[in-house]
Amino acid sequence: MSRLKAIQGDITQVRVDAIVNAANTTLMGGGGVDGAIHRAAGPGLYAACERFHGCPTGEARITSGFNLPSRYIIHTPGPVWHGGNHGEDELLANSYRNSLRLAEENNCHTVAFPSISTGVYAFPLDRAARIAVTTIRDFLKTDHVIDEVTMVCFDPTTYAAYQKEINK
Ligand code: APR
Repeated sequence: MSRLKAIQGDITQVRVDAIVNAANTTLMGGGGVDGAIHRAAGPGLYAACERFHGCPTGEARITSGFNLPSRYIIHTPGPVWHGGNHGEDELLANSYRNSLRLAEENNCHTVAFPSISTGVYAFPLDRAARIAVTTIRDFLKTDHVIDEVTMVCFDPTTYAAYQKEINK
């Protein structure tokens, strides 16, 4: 039974222990999934994020889920795509790995990710999907806390890309 799956939907609606937010390094909110999560979580999230004074690309920070159905939100700034020769692949893998590490440390059994960096940050979708699936699978090999990871894809193209990678 696979511990990694993809669905199409809105990550602010899923009921899991932790959802991951594709944030920016200020952690002060933005557009895309970051904006959707802040709107759904409510003003308490902004105040909770202020105390981190930002977060470097590839690292992750955890907050309560506030008004969301999930218990926690894990915030990670993915890399901006600059052509592929600026360590983008490794930084994206770090975002997935560090988010999973925080989920494990906080005893989360179910985790949901958006497609990090493939929107505003313009990371090529197929390349991001390969990195995400590979990194998550490697992590789950030695992790015994997380039962299931779900890639929540907002549109059919993204969903198809992750399904293809997961079914390889
Ligand atoms: N649920 C799930 N996925 C979503 C949702 C949602 N409600 N809204 C958007 N997405 C998807 C996008 O369609 C894309 O596939 O999340 C993926 C990541 O896109 P962005 O949100 O643009 O994130 P990213 O490319 O990592 O850029 C991050 O955008 O919103 C700002 O503050 C954020 O500066 C940061 C930058």
